[in-house]
Amino acid sequence: MTLDLFAADAPELEDEVLSPGAVVLRGFATAQASALKDDLGRVAAAAPFRHLVTPGGLRMSVAMTNCGELGWVSDRRGYRYEPVDPDSGLRWPALPDSLRVLARDAAARAGYEDFLPDACLVNRYAPGARLSLHQDRDELDLRAPIVSVSLGLPATFLWGGEVRADKSRKLALHHGDVAVWGGPSRLRFHGVLALKDGEHPFAGRHRINLTFSKVRA
Ligand code: SIN
Ligand code: FE2
Repeated sequence: MTLDLFAADAPELEDEVLSPGAVVLRGFATAQASALKDDLGRVAAAAPFRHLVTPGGLRMSVAMTNCGELGWVSDRRGYRYEPVDPDSGLRWPALPDSLRVLARDAAARAGYEDFLPDACLVNRYAPGARLSLHQDRDELDLRAPIVSVSLGLPATFLWGGEVRADKSRKLALHHGDVAVWGGPSRLRFHGVLALKDGEHPFAGRHRINLTFSKVRA
């Protein structure tokens, strides 16, 4: 059936296949949102959001932090995963059980059993923040999928192809939606258009994205 994915009140919540091995589970995280909010508050208190710098020296518009054994960082030396928060010198906060279970259940629903992420990148978008087309390729274990949870304000997600120049498809991601991509789609390009201003009970004028991955093979 067809769904108007841009309608704020889309009445049906159906899984949507993006490409082989990639699916959006509409509303999958909605029921757990308040537990996630409490746990994310604790993560951000221990490892505050910050704007990383790209290897080229640009400040990223998306604010980031991490939880789990490894955290994604970027600086003039490059992109990589690190066990320690460079701002504090401490290990990243542990992955809360609520997040671990959500990621595992979403992966299983998408056909990837036993997903055990060792990294969770937490992205915070304020109005105007965006993420240009990229591949998630800093992980060593490319057999495991990416699980990507959207919370708070809606965003327009770009689902690209295998090379940057491929045409990308736009789709709206709303609070509670979970995108999972793996297998033949694991290295697909993706990005997020500039966030539109708004207000959402989950995070006020922000969108929060959780990107779970398995870094260590
Ligand atoms: C990412 O690719 O790291 C984030 C995607 C999103 O915010 O939906
Ligand atoms: Fe990504």
